[in-house]
Amino acid sequence: MQQQDKVIRQFEDQIDLYTDLAGPESSVVPFLVTPYLFDWLKEHEAFLAERTPLKICEFGGGGGIVLQMIEEELGGQPLLVNAELVGQYGQRQISDSIRFVQTTILQAGLANDTFDVVIARNVLHHLIGANLRQTRQNQGHVFAELLRVTKPGGLILIQEQVNQRPWACTLLYHLSRLASRLKLRIESFEVTPNTVIAYMTRRQLEALAEASLPRAHWQASQYTRRSMPLRWRLTVLMSNNGDTLLALRKPQPAPASTARQP
Ligand SMILES: C[S@@+](CC[C@H](N)C(=O)[O-])C[C@H]1O[C@@H](n2cnc3c(N)ncnc32)[C@H](O)[C@@H]1O
Repeated sequence: MQQQDKVIRQFEDQIDLYTDLAGPESSVVPFLVTPYLFDWLKEHEAFLAERTPLKICEFGGGGGIVLQMIEEELGGQPLLVNAELVGQYGQRQISDSIRFVQTTILQAGLANDTFDVVIARNVLHHLIGANLRQTRQNQGHVFAELLRVTKPGGLILIQEQVNQRPWACTLLYHLSRLASRLKLRIESFEVTPNTVIAYMTRRQLEALAEASLPRAHWQASQYTRRSMPLRWRLTVLMSNNGDTLLALRKPQPAPASTARQP
């Protein structure tokens, strides 16, 4: 279970961060999902041809920045859904073409095998449970839920900010919990009284993915080190952050055997 009320209050407090492509976050956080998707679609022409309109769902899409980039690149072809926890974003979608659904990535309530492409960009470190163990369970559960709503043969793209030091991930989680308990607000570090963060290392993220989908079905696992602003590097804890992109393909069911039984 996610501590949803806390996370909702955090994003309502910071709503402007994820509703504007010209906003401060977009210049700091690299866009790995979109260029990967566009290149992948060019290499898999049949995928696009066989699946019209392409159904694309972003979980935790905020104001729809990523979906709008996709709309601009692919034109009016795809059907775009933003499956987002925070209802206020429903009034702040940057494109009228985006269908907004208020739900959670942990139990979306959407039908099995619905989408051709499913995206989650920087959502997993917000899936805060009652403690770190429950948080890790939430993060692992995402893979099962994304696989469930993706059509066979469909593509799942997960971009996640990671921290390459396991001890720093754990310490940051506990420090952010403490800061939240003390109701601290530190604007320059994007800390609000409801901000609790649970980063993983790239390896931890990959291990969760592998528990749901063997590597034979992965299209890519990429890591880019992030050049963090000085104020973040000075904390030491955040000096080794980067971004991981996982591209997973939901297996097609094996064709039914045509061999006759004797
Ligand atoms: C760091 S923001 C990223 C926004 C957007 N994906 C982007 O890259 O611009 C994290 C987003 O995840 C959403 N979120 C947090 N928990 C969620 C959940 N359980 N289900 C769906 N969305 C969630 C937040 O409301 C927020 O919009």
